[in-house]
Amino acid sequence: MSEVNDSKNENLIIGDDVFVPLLTEEVIQNRIKEMASQISQDYVGKIPIFIGVLNGAFIFLSDLIKNISIDCEIDFFKLSSYGDSKISSGNVRLLKELNCDVNGRDIIIVEDIVDSGLSIKYIEEIFGKHTPSSISVCSLLMKPESIKYNVKIDYIGFKIPSKFVIGYGLDYAQKFRNLRSIYSLSD
Ligand code: IMP
Ligand code: MG
Repeated sequence: MSEVNDSKNENLIIGDDVFVPLLTEEVIQNRIKEMASQISQDYVGKIPIFIGVLNGAFIFLSDLIKNISIDCEIDFFKLSSYGDSKISSGNVRLLKELNCDVNGRDIIIVEDIVDSGLSIKYIEEIFGKHTPSSISVCSLLMKPESIKYNVKIDYIGFKIPSKFVIGYGLDYAQKFRNLRSIYSLSD
């Protein structure tokens, strides 16, 4: 049986890899409150639809909307790109479509992390086929040194170094999404 304990803010040893604490639960939650307050101000008088990109964004979206003070709706769609690897395959596939009608609505795409920007670019192409009234992008994390596509991220929680990270929704081979803090792979 393997056991991972993230309550002590210590390194995690996973197989041959060492992951070091990057963002604690408290730091993450404080930043999310700031982001939610900014979004609530920016969307006064509107009823935005938060669209989470599964699977990674589910925890972030849940904590974010608990701190949103205006009326809002949520939906999800699902993309696949990483498979079980630490490196993006460079291919994005749509695995679950939206259920809501986005025409004429204010859309806020919610991502766990923007790495190359390919996923966001793909999502923007999907929305290009519809006519929402506005689209913005909100990502908890961004790796500025990894960006390859020209995408605009309206709300960024943290800019982080280009290292593989896990926890708080982010997985490695589908595991470790349940960690409350975020850890990065050490060199
Ligand atoms: P992009 O399309 O290259 O911008 O990658 C975005 C997607 O890849 C994110 O939504 C994540 O699901 C995944 N991803 C990127 N970097 C990491 C990471 O460091 N850990 C886990 N997943 C990641
Ligand atoms: Mg993702």
